[in-house]
Amino acid sequence: MRIDVISLFPEFIAQCAAFGVVGRAGERGLLALHGWNPRDYAEGNYRRVDERPFGGGPGMVMLIEPLRASLKAAREADPRPAKVIYLSPQGAPLTQAKVRELAARERLILLCGRYEGVDERLIQAEVDEEISIGDYVLSGGELAAAVVVDAVARLQDGALNDAESAVQDSFEDGLLDCPHYTRPVEHELGDVPAVLMSGNHAEIARWRRMQSLGRTWQRRADLIDEASLSKADRKLLDTYRAQLNGEGDETPDATPAQSGPKSRNC
Ligand SMILES: C[S@@+](CC[C@H](N)C(=O)[O-])C[C@H]1O[C@@H](n2cnc3c(N)ncnc32)[C@H](O)[C@@H]1O
Repeated sequence: MRIDVISLFPEFIAQCAAFGVVGRAGERGLLALHGWNPRDYAEGNYRRVDERPFGGGPGMVMLIEPLRASLKAAREADPRPAKVIYLSPQGAPLTQAKVRELAARERLILLCGRYEGVDERLIQAEVDEEISIGDYVLSGGELAAAVVVDAVARLQDGALNDAESAVQDSFEDGLLDCPHYTRPVEHELGDVPAVLMSGNHAEIARWRRMQSLGRTWQRRADLIDEASLSKADRKLLDTYRAQLNGEGDETPDATPAQSGPKSRNC
């Protein structure tokens, strides 16, 4: 997959993409990241990329032409068609489903705004989609672009050492992931739930599913409402709730019975 990023600070995204899974995806040839700086396409001695907004008011607005020329250069650098995404707080919220959709494409061009944003005419003419990474305002689109690059890169075939781990992540099946434990089994912060040490794969799968349902219900009730739970899932969730109310034998949350950490309910 190829991702082109149009940004006044393209090195910023290159830095973010240099480590861990994303860095490895690059090394393995699964992701090619290219930066384009609109300043390189700006004219005049000062290479201006911004101007004051018409109608007055604070801040500056990114000029059409340097961005348009950068987009043209990025498009022409590869014959495959590219979807142009403007990172914007006004865009559709980024979800794992959207990440999967983007990850399946051969090419993306990410446009990062700065200042008050980009001249609206450029957005109307050149942008296919606007994406937001949350209901807050960043000073630039670079962090948002880095988020998209990371989320998309890790879904490329061969990027993760164990592809199964992505399938089990939060949101993949509409639920949050179950809690995870590793060595040591016993610790002053609590013990590992006994079922995980049992070697009984069916029981472990059942426990994990119950934890996943339970924490989604506790932390993200909106997701539970949207998920179409099977009869078996509903039963597991009922068991989880009953245990939470002290009505069952099993430990309800990831919290070990004796001395474990407190669960963080939302
Ligand atoms: C200071 S913001 C401009 C905000 C704009 N005036 C508004 O209120 O919609 C500068 C740039 O940061 C990026 N940005 C800010 N918040 C973002 C978010 N939540 N998601 C994605 N990009 C964001 C956009 O590229 C935007 O053009």
